Amino acid sequence: MFDVATTLAQLSTEEKVRLLCGKDAWHLHGIERLGIPAITLTDGPHGVRLSESQALDNSALPATVFPVEAAMAASWNPELLEQVAAAIGEECQSMDVGILLGPGVNGKRTPLGGRNFEYFSEDPFLSGAMASAFVRGIQSRGVGACLKHFAGNEQETRRFLINADIDERTLQELYIEPFAKVLRENPPWTMMGAYNAVNGEHACQSADLLQRILRNQLGYDGLVMSDWVAVKDKAASHINGLDLEMPGPGERDAQLHDALTDGRLGEAELDRRVARVLTLIKQVLDQNRTVTVEWPAHHELATQLAVESMVLLKNDSNQLPLSPGKRLVVIGDFARNPRFQGGGSSHMTPHQLSTPLDAIGQRAEVVFADGYTETRVTPEQLEAAIRAATEADQVVLLTGTTDSMESEGFDRADMKLAPDHLMLISAIADANPNLTLVLHTGSAIETRQFEHQVPAILQAWLPGEGGGEALARILFGETSPSGKLSETFPVRLEHNPTFETFPGTKDTVEYREGIFTGYRFYDTKALPVQYPFGHGLSYSQFTLADLNYHSKQRQVSFSITNQGPAEGAEVVQLYIHDEASTYQRPVHELKAFRKIRLVPGEKRTITLPLDEHAFAYFVPHLGRFAEESGRFELRLGFSSRDIRLTTWVTLESDTDVRLLPTLDDTVKDWLSDSRTAPILQQELDRLQFTDAHPMFGIALGFPIPQLIQFIPHMGYGEQDARDVLDALQQQWHQIKTPD
Ligand code: BGC
Repeated sequence: MFDVATTLAQLSTEEKVRLLCGKDAWHLHGIERLGIPAITLTDGPHGVRLSESQALDNSALPATVFPVEAAMAASWNPELLEQVAAAIGEECQSMDVGILLGPGVNGKRTPLGGRNFEYFSEDPFLSGAMASAFVRGIQSRGVGACLKHFAGNEQETRRFLINADIDERTLQELYIEPFAKVLRENPPWTMMGAYNAVNGEHACQSADLLQRILRNQLGYDGLVMSDWVAVKDKAASHINGLDLEMPGPGERDAQLHDALTDGRLGEAELDRRVARVLTLIKQVLDQNRTVTVEWPAHHELATQLAVESMVLLKNDSNQLPLSPGKRLVVIGDFARNPRFQGGGSSHMTPHQLSTPLDAIGQRAEVVFADGYTETRVTPEQLEAAIRAATEADQVVLLTGTTDSMESEGFDRADMKLAPDHLMLISAIADANPNLTLVLHTGSAIETRQFEHQVPAILQAWLPGEGGGEALARILFGETSPSGKLSETFPVRLEHNPTFETFPGTKDTVEYREGIFTGYRFYDTKALPVQYPFGHGLSYSQFTLADLNYHSKQRQVSFSITNQGPAEGAEVVQLYIHDEASTYQRPVHELKAFRKIRLVPGEKRTITLPLDEHAFAYFVPHLGRFAEESGRFELRLGFSSRDIRLTTWVTLESDTDVRLLPTLDDTVKDWLSDSRTAPILQQELDRLQFTDAHPMFGIALGFPIPQLIQFIPHMGYGEQDARDVLDALQQQWHQIKTPD
């Protein structure tokens, strides 16, 4: 195999510049005269989407379609996701794909985000953990991941033009952190810059994102490519840190030659970027292997992940599992034409598609009514569905979003199901109250319109090609549901903290809700939610006991018992509440979790490690995450609103995150801070200026310079004022820079 340094030395400037742009939509340039072939990259992230026509279209070759990322995260099972990603890696190898464009780890500020289905979670820890497992899995098969879209790409509206205005702490704590966690644990071979701008700079040419944060702070040394046609100013992109423009062929090589000529881009800088491209090509070629794909095994893996991702939102009077031998009616076109994936660049061609109707039909006799076509219900469809429901003992109705409601390229108009679907649900529930509703959506929807009429709701997401079989296994109780919400289902859209700011004005969206998104907002505000983050029912019941914190090992231990009738898996979640912090924090944050499978009666003791960020938050003026001394409550439970056990932990930290009051801050600021209070108090005591003085209350609001000016007017001398100033200045400098 070729050597990067030797090859680099053999390249002309022209060849180097050419390498910094793709050859076409899905390939990098090779170097023919040196025998280096063109490598292939393709979407991602729910399986391999290799276009037959080599164009940007929907002509993908068949491959296993796995559940969408939102569903992957709802499995809360990183070990299973790692296996899934390894399977995707094998399929990539079999199709000669070197890089898969995924996973995406953008955030979910609002349930309306058009690509929410393609992202993991509203929580950066869960997103980071799942993405990390994904990257580990795919790269274990010698195929590179591409972690995307870096960063601030939380909406589709005007995604090429919008500037995301995000304060530093929010950016770091919520939107950079999922990337950072993956980079700490399993660095991906490549990353993808976003379309949008962040704080005034386009992501693919932002020195702040690409250099300050990605290279310097996070220490990333892999290749950064642009999103497809995201590069605006080619020279600025490469100068500021981008390695590869996609797709190609680029027409703008001249811009880079100009930048080299006038010295804006140095030769060494150019070489660094070319070396990254060559390193990637070499990595792909080195790892290239012949693989025979076990398609049935991959289909089963897709089915298993779908099973583990489905969330039983409610199950009044044990509506589920379905009772055998009763008259069963299935309603909804999605049973026949499954809604198994979302629209846009993640759209694939399934290798083997399992439909709900077939899978249910293999287990019971079924009467079927289609109920709707896309978002529309005709009078005939309504009548047939009602008639069928009336004659049934139990009804399963499949509903959800369509590609016209939820896709890459645009954001959702609202959080509701289509009006005709809502009407159908109501009519069917009236006809037969033994109703189970199956929701095929890629993100949270409002359920309040039908909550009072529907006893059982299963959130089945966009479950991939095994979705039909997975659904049947859950409906018939062959397996207990174990998915947990990876995002909150608020009661109504208006409750979402971005309601007033999303999708922004023409050019800018302000992340004014700051760090308070998802459950961080709803739980801090104690606002009612429809279904909380982390929620999901089972056919069994679990109990927790013996919660302990082991400070030396920095881990918690607890025991869990399956006290119900069925085998099942439960997701135990650990949230941390900071009793008091210098800067405001959410009431609690997810910091660890584990999915545990138990047979009835089984009890296990579990330990959960806490990582270096468990107690910390981002402190902008320190430029890093920091822990503060104090008391923290560890909250262990089954959702952010279902905490079963708690314990307090006291932490000693060397870091003082407080900003030292300056010589321009107020008397009150100085007296409220334990570092400056003694200095000022000593001077006030010397002057005998106490709260008995008529000016004392007013003086508390004086900045120090105004206090000094006022001292002679409050019955003291000019010299007193000078002495106070000298003392404050001298001692303040000593605390600021102790020798
Ligand atoms: C999407 C990326 C995708 C790329 C290539 C873009 O429109 O934002 O996620 O990888 O297209 O299809």
